[in-house]
Amino acid sequence: MTGDAGEGRIVVHKYEQVAASIRESIAQSLSPHDALASERELMAIHGVSRMTVRKAISVLVEEGRVYNVHGSGTFVGSADIFSKTPKLTSFTEDMISRGSTPSSRVLELTRIAAPDQVALALGLAPSSEVTKIRRLRLADDTPIALEEVYLPTTVLPTESLNLGSSLYEQLRLAGYEVFRAEQEIMAISLSAEDSRLLDVAEGSAALSVTRVSSSRRGQLIEFARTTYRADRYTFQLAVTRDD
Ligand code: GLP
Repeated sequence: MTGDAGEGRIVVHKYEQVAASIRESIAQSLSPHDALASERELMAIHGVSRMTVRKAISVLVEEGRVYNVHGSGTFVGSADIFSKTPKLTSFTEDMISRGSTPSSRVLELTRIAAPDQVALALGLAPSSEVTKIRRLRLADDTPIALEEVYLPTTVLPTESLNLGSSLYEQLRLAGYEVFRAEQEIMAISLSAEDSRLLDVAEGSAALSVTRVSSSRRGQLIEFARTTYRADRYTFQLAVTRDD
């Protein structure tokens, strides 16, 4: 973290400099799963203490750029964009937290009778009206995911949507902040059409994430299916054993 030293001088901590230099060597000369230099080597290269090296590595682990294997060392992460926190995020928040600039291309925006699966998941009467949104989601202009979202029209009227910006932000402003979600993650291979949109070879592997989101008060808000390119997106979850 950078800080203001009081007289307008910006202090960059040593560990941040080390982290930045490791980031650069990952970008320039290392591939996924390559080993980083050892702790001892990093201490010598940067002229810093073991504690500083450890702090720098922990920042990079936090970012999902590297991972530790107990007893073997630290290795470069397996994909350039990671989702490693179990926190509920929107695509926009997810990409920004990874240092990428998110954008969208709207493929479809229609008002339809809810498909059975959607009506059931959102607790709606069969054939209730929902807004269907299909968007291609990009990070730094690279297609990352295809998103199909259904919202009850009672939550947000179809005409009021501005899909150039974050859907979750618009829901929040309308008083329907997404607070909780149930997710199912499944491996799939992409159809010819979806492969073309995501700019990958036909039939490439993808992660399909189905999310049913609700508000703090438990109101069901969204049914979404997001299909992430498997070569660009990895889920990492921290799990704990119950006491
Ligand atoms: C992720 C979720 C979707 C959600 C979307 C909102 O992709 N899987 O369920 O609709 O984020 O993203 P944003 O707020 O950036 O439009």
